[in-house]
Amino acid sequence: MSDHTVLIVDDEESMLQYLSILLTREGYKVDTAKCGLEALQKMEKSPFDVVLTDIQMPGLDGIQVLKGIKAIDSTTPVIMITAYADEQTAIHAVNHGAYSYLHKHCKNDEIKLVVRNAVSLRKVKKENVQLKTEIKRSKKSTKIIGQSREMNGLFRLVDKIADTNATVLIHGESGTGKELIAKSIHEKSSRSKAPFVAINCGAIPETLLESQLFGHVKGSFTGADKDHNGFCQQAAGGTIFLDEIGETPLAIQVKLLRMLQEREIYPVGASQHVKVDLRVIAATNKDLAHEVVAGNFREDLFYRLNVIPVALPSLSQRRDDIPLLVDHFLKRHIAEYKGQLKTAVADEALNILQSYDWPGNVRELENVIERACIIRDSEKISAVDLPGINAGLEETNNSNPSVGTHIPLEDVEKAHIITVLNSVGGRKKQASEILDINPSTLYRKLLKYGIEEDSDVEAAEPVLV
Ligand SMILES: Nc1ncnc2c1ncn2[C@@H]1O[C@H](COP(=O)(O)OP(=O)(O)OP(=O)(O)O)[C@@H](O)[C@H]1O
Ligand SMILES: [Mg+2]
Repeated sequence: MSDHTVLIVDDEESMLQYLSILLTREGYKVDTAKCGLEALQKMEKSPFDVVLTDIQMPGLDGIQVLKGIKAIDSTTPVIMITAYADEQTAIHAVNHGAYSYLHKHCKNDEIKLVVRNAVSLRKVKKENVQLKTEIKRSKKSTKIIGQSREMNGLFRLVDKIADTNATVLIHGESGTGKELIAKSIHEKSSRSKAPFVAINCGAIPETLLESQLFGHVKGSFTGADKDHNGFCQQAAGGTIFLDEIGETPLAIQVKLLRMLQEREIYPVGASQHVKVDLRVIAATNKDLAHEVVAGNFREDLFYRLNVIPVALPSLSQRRDDIPLLVDHFLKRHIAEYKGQLKTAVADEALNILQSYDWPGNVRELENVIERACIIRDSEKISAVDLPGINAGLEETNNSNPSVGTHIPLEDVEKAHIITVLNSVGGRKKQASEILDINPSTLYRKLLKYGIEEDSDVEAAEPVLV
C-alpha cells in the first residue's frame, strides 16, 4: 500500500465508484468529491498527490477546479477526464497547467500509467520546492540595509541594547524587517551561540499554542505519548522571538506574563515549574496600547514586554534607502546565478520605485525586484517590468492618468490583489486583512481572476517563522 493520495472529482456517481475501485486496487489512498467546491475544500484541508477531475460539472467546472487546485498547491498534478466532445477543453486545460487528460472510456492500463507518472512528477516537484525553499532560507542574510537617518538611529539602538537581557518589543508595519532586527539583536548578543527560536503566535491554534510554547508531559492529553519540550525549552540560553504577539489569545497571555515575571514555565500537565533562561523579543504590527484599551491585550503583559520599544520605520518614511535596497536585491539575484547575469535598473524604473508607496514595505520591494529580474526582456529593468507598481504611483502622485483611458475595474482589482499578495509573501490571511475582506472572499477572487500563487512563497511559510 503506497502512501500516495488521489482525489477524484466527478458529479457522476458511477464514474467516482469505478475510478475509486481501480485506483484503490493499485494501492492509492483514494478520496472522492461530487463537485468542484467539495474538491477544493478537501484540498484546502490536506493536499492530495494527484487530482483527477471531470471537465463538465454543474457549479465549478473542471477548469475552475484546476485553477483552484493550482492556487492551493501548484505541485499537485491535475488530470482532466473528458468525454470525446470536449477534447478541445482538455487541450485548453493542459495549456493552463493540467498534467494530462484521459478519455472517459480509455483503458484501465492507461489510467494507471498516467496516475503513476503524475505521482512521480509530484514527488520530484515537491522535492524541488523544498530544496529551493531551503536554499532561499540559507541564502537570506541578516544583513540589514539602510543609511537613512531613521535606520542609523535604529542601528545605534540595536548596538546599545543587544548585549543586555532586556525584553524588546518591536513595532512596525508588515515587511519592515521586524524579524531581521530581532535576529540581529540576538546575533550581536552574548547569547548568539545559543538558539534563536521564532514562533508565530498568530498562526498556531490556541489549543496547540500552549504546548508548543511550554511543552507538555506524557499523558497530559490524548496523543501526548511522550514528554515534549516546547519552544521556550528549545531556546534555552538563547532568544525566543514571539512574532505577532498581538494575536496571542488572552488565556496564553497570562502564561507568558508568568514566564516573563518569574522566568519559569509550566509544561502542559506538569505539576512542577521549570526554570528557563532566555531572552524575549516580541514583535507586532498592531498598536498594542490600543489593543490594551480595546480589552484584547493584557495591560500587565504589555508593560512587561515594552521594556525597550523599537519602532521600525515604514519604507515610505525612508525613501532614500530605496536605491540601496534595490541594489542589494539585484546583487543577491545575480549571485544566485553565480555572477553570470548582468542586470541594472533604468532611471525611469528607479524613479517609479522611489515614488511608490510600498504598503508591503521591504518585503514587497524584494518581491518586485525578484519578479522584475525574471520577467525583464533586456539587461535593464524598465517600467514595464514593474506591473502593479505604476498603479500605486498614480495614486501617490494624486494625478490619475487612467481617467479617460479604458481600464475595466476588474483589471484594477486583479492588479491590486496581486500587488498586495506579493507584498506579504503570498500569505492569504494577511493579504485579506490588508484588503479588508474575508479570506473566503479573497479565495473566490483568486479563483475568478485565475491568480496562480507562487509555490515557493507559499511553501516558505510554515507555521513557525
Ligand atoms: N533593512 C533591510 N535590509 C535588507 N532586507 C530587508 C530589510 N528589511 C526587511 N528586509 C527583508 O524583507 C523581508 C521581510 O522582512 P521581515 O520578515 O523581517 O519583516 P517583518 O516586519 O517581520 O514582516 P511581517 O510583519 O510581515 O512578518 C525579508 O526577506 C527581509 O530579509
Ligand atoms: Mg515577521
